[in-house]
Amino acid sequence: MNTAKLIDGKAAANRVLKQVKADVQRLKRKGIEPALAVILVGQDPASEVYVRNKILRAEESGIRSLEYRLVANSSQAELLALIATLNADASVNGILLQLPLPAHFEEARALQAIDPRKDVDGFHSENVGGLSQGRDVLTPCTPSGCMQLLEDACGDLSGKHAVVIGRSNIVGKPMAALLLQAHCSVTVVHSRSTDAKALCQLADIVVAAVGRPRMIDASWLKPGAVVIDVGINRIEENGRSRLVGDVDFDSALPQVSAITPVPGGVGPMTIAFLMKNTVTAAVQQAHAQRSQSEAVCLSTY
Ligand code: GUN
Repeated sequence: MNTAKLIDGKAAANRVLKQVKADVQRLKRKGIEPALAVILVGQDPASEVYVRNKILRAEESGIRSLEYRLVANSSQAELLALIATLNADASVNGILLQLPLPAHFEEARALQAIDPRKDVDGFHSENVGGLSQGRDVLTPCTPSGCMQLLEDACGDLSGKHAVVIGRSNIVGKPMAALLLQAHCSVTVVHSRSTDAKALCQLADIVVAAVGRPRMIDASWLKPGAVVIDVGINRIEENGRSRLVGDVDFDSALPQVSAITPVPGGVGPMTIAFLMKNTVTAAVQQAHAQRSQSEAVCLSTY
């Protein structure tokens, strides 16, 4: 395999986490202890793994982690009450509600209930709107991780044509916004696009986030394209269960200038950026608290 073309997400995530750890140590010396609350509703096996990894990574980074579990048949009201408690708890800096929720929950309403300042997923409309306006807000972890990988691989992204495959709120839409902010020309293709493949063939950068195993092969790609594969699909092959991306890696490799593997590409970056967002949220909350108490002091004169 031509390993020179491989984008090593694990190494990139370790670089981010090393910085996070150093930042946490520095904050602790100032009396600030970043804390992340993770809420898991039900027992979705993939979510169980993701949550375990998030808690583990938080602990390794020195971030205090709190895990809250609700049984699958909990009510929306119970979930909203938990979120309200965590919003009101000044010692909690970040709140992550693991998705998907069981079908009877109103996911959008639950996400909207999280204090936008603690919204380390960047899913609250205030943060979504802020991102689209180019304000400095908490941004979704997976697209933020993809941007870091792209900047490491390509340097300046300005003027490049990026095609995002998929239009989910978690990845596709925020990814397009971040690429636009980095001065790319951005095309988003999706299930209703009339010729997704032809549009993709024009791309300098392809970000695949559709959730369909190996959908994109070499015939979709311009020679020399940089490919970020967000897909994590479990398939059965030759009697074995394995993870594959949305990109047919073996087919794409000879065609591209750089590509993320699955696993070991985008996945580790998502968790690293969750930790980074938690630290950012803790710092912003400490600043806000300080200016509030200074304002109180001044108002007494
Ligand atoms: N489920 C899959 N990806 C994510 C994510 O980025 N955040 C949350 N909260 N849940 C997810």
